[in-house]
Amino acid sequence: MKVWIDGRVVDGSEARVPVADHGLLYGDGVFEGIRIYGRSVFRLEDHLQRFAASAKSIALELPGGIEAVREIVLETARAFDADEAYVRLIATRGEGGLDIDPTPCSKPRLICIVDRIAIYPEQKRLAGVDLLTSSWRRPPADVLDPRVKSLNYLNNVMATFEARQRGGDEALLLNAAGTIAETAVTNIFAVRDGDLLTPPSTDGALEGITRATVLEIAASLGIPARAQSLGRFDLFAADEAFLTGSGAALVPVRSLDGRPIGAAGPGPVYEQIRSVFIETAAGRGTPF
Ligand SMILES: Cc1ncc(COP(=O)(O)O)c(C=O)c1O
Repeated sequence: MKVWIDGRVVDGSEARVPVADHGLLYGDGVFEGIRIYGRSVFRLEDHLQRFAASAKSIALELPGGIEAVREIVLETARAFDADEAYVRLIATRGEGGLDIDPTPCSKPRLICIVDRIAIYPEQKRLAGVDLLTSSWRRPPADVLDPRVKSLNYLNNVMATFEARQRGGDEALLLNAAGTIAETAVTNIFAVRDGDLLTPPSTDGALEGITRATVLEIAASLGIPARAQSLGRFDLFAADEAFLTGSGAALVPVRSLDGRPIGAAGPGPVYEQIRSVFIETAAGRGTPF
């Protein structure tokens, strides 16, 4: 693991964050998860735009702006020096007092971590993951807007904890209205009668960059695809379903709450889109 922190790149074991950093004390900050495919940082500009929008929405000024952050990502990627890797980019509010007031935190802290990642073992990617509907609901936008990729992931953590304790792989999160938002760390797609469907961000989904890539690939393949509200009904009745995220890439869904989805494994639409994704991913990145 290589980490850029406080102006230099160090090994993971040497990276330190002061205990008075409000990112640690209050989860006050934002982050991005990005993939490196074929020695290039996948859709770096889109991740930088989302990172900047998340930061701006919580009144956190990125030190040096997007240009500085871009250079930090590329410098850390060069230091890690691998064809395939995962980038975790973090901006915290920086050091302040022990009380919650963010206004004395005058120096936001940037951190960039590059390491290997394996969210699911290869066998899960081949066979599909088992989803369990979470008893935790995705908070509405007036509580915590899902479009802000913030360091407040306790909702996602507890949903994952519950799913794993019950023997599942992933938690399916519904919003307060009972329609599907996404899973704890991925967006979700369902295929019904040839249409590719995914919940809109207004239903509590992050505007995923892998999700956007899948929608673009579907359009290029002539597969009708759109964002629309989905209930558990749409998954139980689906011909296939799959998850998308920077860490997970594309993963088929095998079951929901113990019931098989479609043919309980990778379906033809998933296979078609994934093969284009794999072929084109390296070409959509910023080389370092
Ligand atoms: C809650 C949540 N939803 C969806 C995603 C997928 O987004 P992306 O494809 O941009 O990684 C993530 C990934 O980090 C996530 O944390």
